[in-house]
Amino acid sequence: MAEKGNIYRISGPVVIAHGLESPKMYDVVKVGKMQLVGEIIKINGDDAVIQVYEDTSGLKPGETVENTHRQLSVMLAPGILGSIYDGIQRPLDKIKASSGDFIARGVNVEAVDTKKKWHFVPVAKNGSEVKQGDIIGEVQETGLIKHKVMVPVGMNGKIDKLKEGDYTVTDKICGIIGSTGSKSDVSMLQYWPVRIARPVVEKLPPHIPLITGQRVIDTFFPVAQGGTAAVPGPFGSGKTVIQHQLAKWSESDIVVYVGCGERGNEMTEILTTFPELKDPKTGKPLMDRTILIANTSNMPVAAREASIYTGIALAEYYRDMGYNVALMADSTSRWAEALREISGRLEEMPGEEGYPAYLGRKVAEFYERAGMVKVLNGKIGSITAIGAVSPPGGDISEPVSQNTLRVTRVFWALDASLANRRHFPSINWLNSYSLYMDDLGGWYSENAGKEWVQLRTEMMGILQKEAEINEVVQLVGYDALPEKEKETLDIAKSIREDYLQQSAFDDVDTYTSTKKQYIMLKSIKMMHDAEAKAIDRGVLVEQMQKTTAKEKMARMKFVKEADIDNYFKEFEGSLSDFESIESGNK
Ligand SMILES: Nc1ncnc2c1ncn2[C@@H]1O[C@H](COP(=O)(O)OP(=O)(O)OP(=O)(O)O)[C@@H](O)[C@H]1O
Ligand SMILES: [Mg+2]
Repeated sequence: MAEKGNIYRISGPVVIAHGLESPKMYDVVKVGKMQLVGEIIKINGDDAVIQVYEDTSGLKPGETVENTHRQLSVMLAPGILGSIYDGIQRPLDKIKASSGDFIARGVNVEAVDTKKKWHFVPVAKNGSEVKQGDIIGEVQETGLIKHKVMVPVGMNGKIDKLKEGDYTVTDKICGIIGSTGSKSDVSMLQYWPVRIARPVVEKLPPHIPLITGQRVIDTFFPVAQGGTAAVPGPFGSGKTVIQHQLAKWSESDIVVYVGCGERGNEMTEILTTFPELKDPKTGKPLMDRTILIANTSNMPVAAREASIYTGIALAEYYRDMGYNVALMADSTSRWAEALREISGRLEEMPGEEGYPAYLGRKVAEFYERAGMVKVLNGKIGSITAIGAVSPPGGDISEPVSQNTLRVTRVFWALDASLANRRHFPSINWLNSYSLYMDDLGGWYSENAGKEWVQLRTEMMGILQKEAEINEVVQLVGYDALPEKEKETLDIAKSIREDYLQQSAFDDVDTYTSTKKQYIMLKSIKMMHDAEAKAIDRGVLVEQMQKTTAKEKMARMKFVKEADIDNYFKEFEGSLSDFESIESGNK
């Protein structure tokens, strides 16, 4: 029999209860007649301070509060993939089916179907010694992903009575006999407290890029698998589109997308488009590898605070199976605002801009859970964490941006002026950086093309030169520039328009393989060389504008992957155009 306490005070999502017996930090409680889900976040003597994950309107002092003595946990079992959850892993689609469009309060729906039977195939042998994290069997969870059933953390021993068969997630699939003779039943279902990182053997240095098909990212500012990246940007600069593109196209086994406090319509976009998308490689539905966590701005603020932990705990679980997981959070600013609101209600001492003093620590702890790791069973898995940040007015000197940039190793600086000019993705190539560049160089040279690193460096050099020359242009005007510098500007324009600009909404342009990126980079370089030769012969930059080669370069991004080799040959042939231009220098 759970001990009950009583509500004493209510302040928005924060409730104070008296008389809960043995309350512990992070215990989950059921609040009031409606049994709203809450979590103890502070204990003062006999008072338990509770953040409630549901709307508290109508709640009255005196109503009972019941301690479940369980921490806020995720339910881990086959059936998670393809789900759409709220911030505390309640399945939105199932809630909707049971209570209509608005989430009714106090509804108790399991995160995974506990009635469904899964075909379980053992991997481990009866009588064999296993330890925590070891894989005991597999279930084909979706068309794309095999779910590995693992020995729960903290359990070791001999496998007993393991058998292939059809089981629900709560059915016993085997026993584990500990060294003292103790017997534990193991099912496919486990729980894990979201605020605690799942244990691993060790972190490994990143060395493989997370290929995204987004040219500016893969070529200039790559994030490593197991890496961290921040996407700060002002209103409307393209944060959400980038996050969606990564969720759709990045080469991860599993994608966890946390829509955190964004407008309802942005989430609707995801909820309607994702289920229709197909994996480009396998043709299977993308949802087969995706978990969506939706917490829009009109949902309770405490659930938003929890949502990124729910997301990363689910990510860790699939990582522990040896998968590469990508986690997108859009936007972590809205998460930080939730933290601030709750901290305010607790009357804590505010830090910078009203955020709690522990904001920096919380941000760091979150990104710390990313990484390429050796998991308990010896496999290698990874979590790549990519967080959007929405600094008010786009000014990244504010606390959330600063605390994020301190811990993330890639910075995609979205730029309002680029967005205004409809240059998308509006990642500013002069301000952005990736600290993984050196770690990944080897991979690119081996897998993307021998000259990849050199080409990339050269292209970036041209873009930097462009910025310098533009300063001169401000002073003396374009016409006064030597032809050589005009040509640099000309190539820089090609890099910007034909390469960096990439439409998320064009069927072909939306994704570019590294192979095609390499061909495109090489093409720009070849055009550069051909132009430079022509200039040496006295040809003017303005004479080169109407060549077929330039037209072909501009169209290259819209050429299908299957046709790119032939197209490149045609492009190469058209470069001779530059040789036939007669010198315009009199
Ligand atoms: N890669 C892209 N290709 C084409 N259009 C884009 C691209 N990125 C962004 N856009 C355009 O910019 C608009 C705004 O982008 P988005 O919604 O991602 O901005 P945001 O930074 O998330 O804004 P908010 O601060 O409101 O959340 C999009 O609706 C789209 O029209
Ligand atoms: Mg957005």
